[in-house]
Amino acid sequence: MKIIIGSNNKKKLAELQALLGEYGVELVTPASLGLTLEPEETGATFEENSLIKATAFAEAAGLPCIADDSGLEVKALGGRPGVYSARYAGENASDGEKMDKLLGELEGAADRAARFVSVATYRSPDGVTVQARGECPGEILLEKRGTNGFGYDPVFFCAEAGECFSEIPAEEKAKYSHRGRSLALLKEKLKPILEDKNA
Ligand code: IMP
Repeated sequence: MKIIIGSNNKKKLAELQALLGEYGVELVTPASLGLTLEPEETGATFEENSLIKATAFAEAAGLPCIADDSGLEVKALGGRPGVYSARYAGENASDGEKMDKLLGELEGAADRAARFVSVATYRSPDGVTVQARGECPGEILLEKRGTNGFGYDPVFFCAEAGECFSEIPAEEKAKYSHRGRSLALLKEKLKPILEDKNA
């Protein structure tokens, strides 16, 4: 069974490929099919945006798609940047600029609690939809650390790992991360579909 991974973000794509490797299916990327679409994320929730992406890629490719929509919710900011995490410092801002804005907004904040959220969606071209949510609690550090990962990883201290996401290898991050969790749960939920299609 072939599944397209619904993301154009190279680093996220690499994480998704590694996590979906365990699914036992043939994975294809949008680039390998020459697809350049960038679905507009107009939803108000991770669930809505995840479904928008998965549906767009499934329809364009004529294949089932797995996509994730994810972001960082910071308690002292009332849950921001949330679904706007990718665009928090403007459409073309770098990860460094996003983190600088976040550290600035949190200057002097006593409560630095935050969590990453990921909603993974499987969507087939004929409309079968399965979703799973994963969360990872932690704190926003006072400054950037480490060089692994992507996005806000250098300022996110993962409570369960006891380390910053950018200071641990990808396999270690996957054990605790929101995306590792949403995709593990999605795999459980997809068992009947995957077993049927791989039979
Ligand atoms: P989207 O899900 O591609 O719309 O964007 C989610 C945004 O949230 C990314 O561009 C990152 O800025 C941030 N994000 C999501 N997951 C992670 C992660 O695992 N580490 C760091 N930042 C993340």
